[in-house]
Amino acid sequence: MDTTCTGTPLRTILLLLFQIWCFSFISMADVIYRPTDLFSVSCGSSTNFSTLDTRNWTTDIHFLSPTHLSVAAPSLTPSTIQGPYTHARLSHSPFTYSFPLTPGPKFIRLFFYSTSYQNFPRSQASFSVQAGPYTLLQHFNSSLNADADDDPSHPDILFREYCINLQDGENLNITFIPTTTDSYAFINGIEIVSMPPYLYYTDPGHSPEQPQYVATMTPYVVENKFALETMYRLKAGDHTIPSSEDTGMLRTWDTDSKYLDTQSEESIEFTGTTNLSFTKNIPNYTAPDQVFRSVRNMGRNASFNMRNNITWQLAVDSGFTYLLRLYFCELNPRIEEAGVLRFFIFIQDQLATDWADVFMWTNHWGVPVVREYVVIISESPKKVNLSLKMHPHPKSIIQDAQINAIEIFKISNYKGSLAGPNPDPPQTAVVSHQGSNKKNGATKKILAAVTGTVFGVLLLSFIVAFFFVKRKKNITVESTKEGTSPLRDGSPSLPTNLCRHFSISEIIAATNNFDELFIVGVGGFGNVYKGYIDDSTPVAIKRLKPGSQQGLDEFMNEIEMLSQLRHLHLVSLIGYCYESNEMILVYDFMDRGALRDHLYDTDNPLLSWKQRLQICIGAARGLHYLHTGANQMIIHRDVKSTNILLDEKWVAKVSDFGLSRIGPTSSSMTHVSTQVKGSVGYLDPEYYKRQRLTEKSDVYSYGVVLLEVLCGRQPLLRTVEKQQVSLVDWAKHRYQKGSLGEIVDPALKGQIAPHCLRKFGEVALSCLLEDGTQRPSMNDVVGVLEFVLQLQLQDSAHGDVVWESGVDYEGSTTDDMFSSHSNSSGLNCTSYRNKESDRLILDNVFSELKDPKGR
Ligand SMILES: *[C@@H]1O[C@H](CO)[C@@H](O)[C@H](O)[C@H]1NC(C)=O
Ligand SMILES: *[C@@H]1O[C@H](CO)[C@@H](O)[C@H](O)[C@H]1NC(C)=O
Ligand SMILES: *[C@@H]1O[C@H](CO)[C@@H](O)[C@H](O)[C@H]1NC(C)=O
Ligand SMILES: *[C@@H]1O[C@H](CO)[C@@H](O)[C@H](O)[C@H]1NC(C)=O
Ligand SMILES: *[C@@H]1O[C@H](CO)[C@@H](O)[C@H](O)[C@H]1NC(C)=O
Ligand SMILES: *[C@@H]1O[C@H](CO)[C@@H](O)[C@H](O)[C@H]1NC(C)=O
Ligand SMILES: *[C@@H]1O[C@H](CO)[C@@H](O)[C@H](O)[C@H]1NC(C)=O
Repeated sequence: MDTTCTGTPLRTILLLLFQIWCFSFISMADVIYRPTDLFSVSCGSSTNFSTLDTRNWTTDIHFLSPTHLSVAAPSLTPSTIQGPYTHARLSHSPFTYSFPLTPGPKFIRLFFYSTSYQNFPRSQASFSVQAGPYTLLQHFNSSLNADADDDPSHPDILFREYCINLQDGENLNITFIPTTTDSYAFINGIEIVSMPPYLYYTDPGHSPEQPQYVATMTPYVVENKFALETMYRLKAGDHTIPSSEDTGMLRTWDTDSKYLDTQSEESIEFTGTTNLSFTKNIPNYTAPDQVFRSVRNMGRNASFNMRNNITWQLAVDSGFTYLLRLYFCELNPRIEEAGVLRFFIFIQDQLATDWADVFMWTNHWGVPVVREYVVIISESPKKVNLSLKMHPHPKSIIQDAQINAIEIFKISNYKGSLAGPNPDPPQTAVVSHQGSNKKNGATKKILAAVTGTVFGVLLLSFIVAFFFVKRKKNITVESTKEGTSPLRDGSPSLPTNLCRHFSISEIIAATNNFDELFIVGVGGFGNVYKGYIDDSTPVAIKRLKPGSQQGLDEFMNEIEMLSQLRHLHLVSLIGYCYESNEMILVYDFMDRGALRDHLYDTDNPLLSWKQRLQICIGAARGLHYLHTGANQMIIHRDVKSTNILLDEKWVAKVSDFGLSRIGPTSSSMTHVSTQVKGSVGYLDPEYYKRQRLTEKSDVYSYGVVLLEVLCGRQPLLRTVEKQQVSLVDWAKHRYQKGSLGEIVDPALKGQIAPHCLRKFGEVALSCLLEDGTQRPSMNDVVGVLEFVLQLQLQDSAHGDVVWESGVDYEGSTTDDMFSSHSNSSGLNCTSYRNKESDRLILDNVFSELKDPKGR
């Protein structure tokens, strides 16, 4: 995203807020805490200006000494990068900023934009930063750090936040010292904000809940003489909280999801009427309300939760002591007393507590509570991952775990230093592409692996790929003259404010001029290339065949639809290029390509049954979100196994919104009349016949995908005997005969528990019912599939009998299938013969489903 939504010259926003939809967060929240000292200094800027994040930047000249040894320079920032990054102060000799401050703890924030400035090449920046007695950075090679920082949302931006406690009211001097005479020091922005006295420091007089050493469970005091560096400030859920919505200290709260190790967790927003009750220990400025209203759970069923930990992996420098602040608040009305939800907390695989019970701690709903732990990360040559794990207590009534937010601070060492080593330099270049002179994807991957940074960045790095049948094709590259026909800004219908705009030269650089070696997919619409943007972020670049009106419509449609949607199970559109007669869409790259390419006609290893179930659940969740989660119902209209893509962790993402459209917009409308579009083999016959589109047409197509997944074959196979040509007809036929088992993909032999097979068949065929109104909603489908997965996992755990080819099971007819959940018709398999127990499990499954709007 960028910030063009305001249209003012000062349209700008702190880049840390990139993940956020700009339209949702530009207001200043009620400020609870008013800092006594507040300096936001744009270094090198000669004017004062303010930015959308409500920061008022002033020039640096009043604070600087000596003034004659450093220079001010503008930076050639992309239009998306503004705020303090547009100017810099640079020097080959040391320079100092001196701030008149009141005593007490302060945040110091440093903003760097690593690029080449006039006469100051990017790679020659290396310097130390001293603030009062503390060393914040030492021999800091900014280009190396920027290259190692894996966050594609703000390439080359480095942001550091520290806390220091000023004992008396003298000036605070912040000095920038170049490492050698050849290198230089620079800074783009400095911010100093005071904070309440004992927010992070321990109050020696009164602190009932002191931080605890994890290993020894002994108390630890965060003394005023320590300096802290914020390593992470994360809240549950997929939305960040920008500095303008903090309680007055301009802290940014990032999302935790990209550091989660597993994909099973869910986050819930409690927007209900329960008011938060702050306490003396946790006053109202501690964190914004939103932090306490978004909670992360394991979110699955009890047996899954009992077999897993919910885990965050957070890369930190070794050889330091770290303070973890964990935020909790109970707002779940189901939890009414202590003991209902009790869990373990492990930090670095050491038990921090075996009795985390938020209700017990607070005795009431809506009372925020913070628990602090201290852990020493011993010296090692590399960065290490600090792990935070939680696990349900076996005696807990609800077997789950929960948390609202996590902060991690590095504590200064005995030398008063917070400085970590520089990351390793990039290694050999593997993929070369135009315009890359400083980093590349392959080395970034190595670095990322080294730092252990978790890749599944939820909002930013959903990775998309289009591996259709891969074949070579001659590409004629049109000579593109930059700036000749930039239709882009002239086209009023393009939502430039919703996603990034790429110039054709950027696309050419990213694809090495549409080099056919970069092609990863070919479709009716054109080619898909794998390319790198911002020098290292892998992306899928879809180049639509130019010229056709249909192509243009679908292009516009996809941008409009996708740029408004964000969901774990939908692909992310990064941006587009509409220039020089080119229509190009840029998505995050998906490593594993399309679902179909893991089911049949492929050299890839075939997916296991469990993987298939998980992928089906993911895709169903994505569709459910489309149907109900966005402002308006969106009907995909082209659900098929090649439009379900898989990321490196096998997370399913629904893609290709070229045909999607808004569904009925009012409750009195039941359908949309439209020209029939879709893919052969997946098309809802009812829609086809009556040309009336409802979301149930997607349900039908999804049902076809379920059969493909189960049977490992195409929806239409012309080469087989007539009865079997249509997978849907064939499966319906076998199902009625009670022998669906016979057509199950032989690769799944021995993997499917019989009652799972039946339930799965039931839900697949219910999706395929002729009458759309009889088909389940995607929400129902998610529920049933989760139930199937649960049965399967229980079975695998118990080593029960599993399905063998040819083994029969009782069939039920399609007529009474899925008539309602509470009835669960026809379910009388061995482990769940009792309908009542089945119902309980189903209810449980449904009650655990999250509110789609909460994400
Ligand atoms: C925050 O708490 C303080 C002290 O309890 C109170 O005076 C103030 O009104 C509260 N502010 C808000 C915005 O609730
Ligand atoms: C910036 O200045 C405006 C206008 O004076 C003021 O309303 C706003 O609160 C200031 N922002 C901050 C972060 O102090
Ligand atoms: C910028 O703001 C500072 C602090 O508010 C003020 O002292 C200075 O005069 C302003 N400079 C300009 C050029 O407006
Ligand atoms: C910073 O690191 C880069 C990459 O290793 C290196 O080329 C450059 O010389 C370093 N800069 C300084 C000033 O040491
Ligand atoms: C801070 O810097 C100013 C100007 O360089 C200097 O006069 C002052 O002594 C310094 N203060 C400290 C505490 O170092
Ligand atoms: C919550 O606070 C609001 C505003 O202070 C008040 O009107 C409302 O009654 C409170 N709700 C509850 C449940 O206490
Ligand atoms: C959860 O993590 C702890 C600490 O590493 C470990 O002892 C435990 O075995 C893990 N449990 C599961 C189910 O993975």
